[in-house]
Amino acid sequence: MSVQIAARMGRIKPSPSSAATDRLAQLRREGRDIVSLLVGEPDFDTPAHIRRAAIEAIEQGQTRYTQTSGTLELRQAVTEKLQRENGLGYAPGQVIVTVGAKHAIFNALAVTVEPGDEVIIPAPYWVSYPDMVLACEGEPVRVACPEADGFLLTPAALEAAITPRTRWLVLNSPSNPTGAAYSTVQLRGLADVLLRHPQVMVLTDDIYEHIRFDGEATPHIAAIEPALKDRTLVVNGVSKTYAMTGWRIGYAAGPAAIIAAMDMLQSQSTSCTTSVSQAAALAALRAPMDFLPDWVATYRARRDRAVALMNAMPGLRCTAPVGAFYLFIHCGGLIGRRTAEGTLLHTDLDVAMFFLESAGVAVIGGTSYGLSPYFRISIATGVEVIEEACRRLAAAIATLRD
Ligand SMILES: Cc1ncc(COP(=O)(O)O)c(C=O)c1O
Repeated sequence: MSVQIAARMGRIKPSPSSAATDRLAQLRREGRDIVSLLVGEPDFDTPAHIRRAAIEAIEQGQTRYTQTSGTLELRQAVTEKLQRENGLGYAPGQVIVTVGAKHAIFNALAVTVEPGDEVIIPAPYWVSYPDMVLACEGEPVRVACPEADGFLLTPAALEAAITPRTRWLVLNSPSNPTGAAYSTVQLRGLADVLLRHPQVMVLTDDIYEHIRFDGEATPHIAAIEPALKDRTLVVNGVSKTYAMTGWRIGYAAGPAAIIAAMDMLQSQSTSCTTSVSQAAALAALRAPMDFLPDWVATYRARRDRAVALMNAMPGLRCTAPVGAFYLFIHCGGLIGRRTAEGTLLHTDLDVAMFFLESAGVAVIGGTSYGLSPYFRISIATGVEVIEEACRRLAAAIATLRD
């Protein structure tokens, strides 16, 4: 019998960030000296009080299955967090704990998207959204959000993208890859459009909400327009705020019918998330976030340094993002130029390849995020790494010719 892979797998491709990370590992194994600006996770350790809570959970025997949707205590803590920080009231039965925010988004789409249903994804976007929609046999509708609009979806662009088949709008604020965040006024404008289209549900990916450099709180569309709350799914998790990417805890809160369907799917697939990680996430959500201002200040200093260095290079420019830990850098000034070997740089993917091969610096081309010509760097890495990367990029760019 020959091995056969289901046709729906042909709809998706590997995550470009995972592919780039694999390529980086391969080059390093071959002995190449590569500076990586790929990392999509905090470079801090999970805070000590959270680590201790996990160790205590193990010692106390919290090592068995929990309810599929997560322990009642953790779901209760999630509802308290959503009330306290986002002004959104939920009951524990409207919350499900998942294997990271990614799992929550995937399962939400899996239980709601029919073949051919459309999901509006403002571009640039986190690389996984379109492929998750495709895996669920839906149609991603990528809506370009140019830099002139602050990389944000405008009400007019939203209105133009909605059709009778639109099932979801995905909002990610602050965003990966741009760090752009919606203001209350901007969300009000989007909410006004959504009120006219009751078939459209809203999935908010709030994973970077606390990583902000402007001192502002991140407003939530369902708190601004309570009439949208019954068709909004809030997705969040502990990965980025608490430096807990490997613990794999996310959650979703929203309409009971969606949560119940996600619960059923999860009960027949992964079951509950890791019990020990749930105990750690409980400690994270219940304790003060007093470690966070220092972390944000560190990201901010790196952001400022990286923005200054990038803008000093001919052919590159970038604005300082409001949040998250990435820069989305315009590289239009390098397109159309040639490497010393004569290779023409047609696209931002060519630019990323040139940076890797000629400078030994790993970045991801904007094409992967749905907007060109840009590339993304992560600033979740030491300032000395950023400085070394920029020194190498400047040297490589100096070798380009017209
Ligand atoms: C926008 C966005 N959402 C979700 C995730 C995944 O989060 P988690 O680790 O909770 O699955 C990421 C990770 O890079 C992300 O950038």
